[in-house]
Amino acid sequence: MKREELKAVLKAQKELYVKPDDRILFVVDEGYKNAPIGEIFAGYEHQIVHIPQIERPGQDYELNKKFLENKTLAWLIASVSISHSPMSVKMMEWGMFLISNPGISPDWLAILDPQNREVCRERAETILKAIGGDIGGAFMINANDGTNLWLKIPSKNWIKETGEREGFGTNGPYGELATAPFWAKGTYVLRPGDFATNPLNEIKEEIRLTIEENQVVKIEGESQAKTLQEMLEKAGNPKAYSLGEFALGINPGRPSRVYRSVIAEKLKGGIHIAIGTNALCLQETCPELDKFQYGRYNAGVHIDCIKFSASVTFISRERTDVPVTILKKGEFVV
Ligand SMILES: [Fe+2]
Repeated sequence: MKREELKAVLKAQKELYVKPDDRILFVVDEGYKNAPIGEIFAGYEHQIVHIPQIERPGQDYELNKKFLENKTLAWLIASVSISHSPMSVKMMEWGMFLISNPGISPDWLAILDPQNREVCRERAETILKAIGGDIGGAFMINANDGTNLWLKIPSKNWIKETGEREGFGTNGPYGELATAPFWAKGTYVLRPGDFATNPLNEIKEEIRLTIEENQVVKIEGESQAKTLQEMLEKAGNPKAYSLGEFALGINPGRPSRVYRSVIAEKLKGGIHIAIGTNALCLQETCPELDKFQYGRYNAGVHIDCIKFSASVTFISRERTDVPVTILKKGEFVV
């Protein structure tokens, strides 16, 4: 990672999220030893702790509680993502806002541009208005690669990630409207050019997922499919196979090249489901928690599977006679 790129990303995030009276804990791994923290955050109360570089899944680190006391913001400059690390979840439960940066690459700045914020906010509002508000219902996802998936989602659980300092934190770049399904059935296909969570990243050969009762029951494909299977097996938890997210990408930024899934999942017109942890996409306040087989859980793994060019239609529980098409072959029609 070039020092200048890293500096630009940290400055962009500072502009988006930091308040003048924040007390910041930086958690830095060996890969980002050169982060110019002192230079950018002179004048802010902050502390830096170093952790080793760790691989996922089962990615975790331990922090002494004394580091967390009195801090308002935790800033991970480390290859660990919010959703893979129980320690990060603990910090959020502690009430700190968490910024995580899993794999900073040159495509980040196009997404972090503060000008994208307003566009994301408007897009999120437009979608919610079109489907009838924060309401329960069913999504139908189709694509000409054999994707044909039904998902059911609860009421009062949409999460808008639009570059604002709200909620529990952000996974670096912003720009999605997310919720969690409690039921899903069908086939979801990733094609070359689609993305999945690191280390898979850009999909090179087709991966075909068969989903029943909200669980991935079959993974077909070549070597990347095998990697995906191994990631889930390593989690050593039956909940790891459960779908923990459904989201729409809403950020208008267009990087000249997409390096990482964490960027791909924000791009306008893309969609993703995630296999594993739903605790980041299912809010404690959701009145329909009892519909979820495992409730709100952390499975130690959360693998985003991002598709472009899908068509998405929503059928509200209250207005089953009026299906609303949101995306047609990857283009918003609302
Ligand atoms: Fe997401």
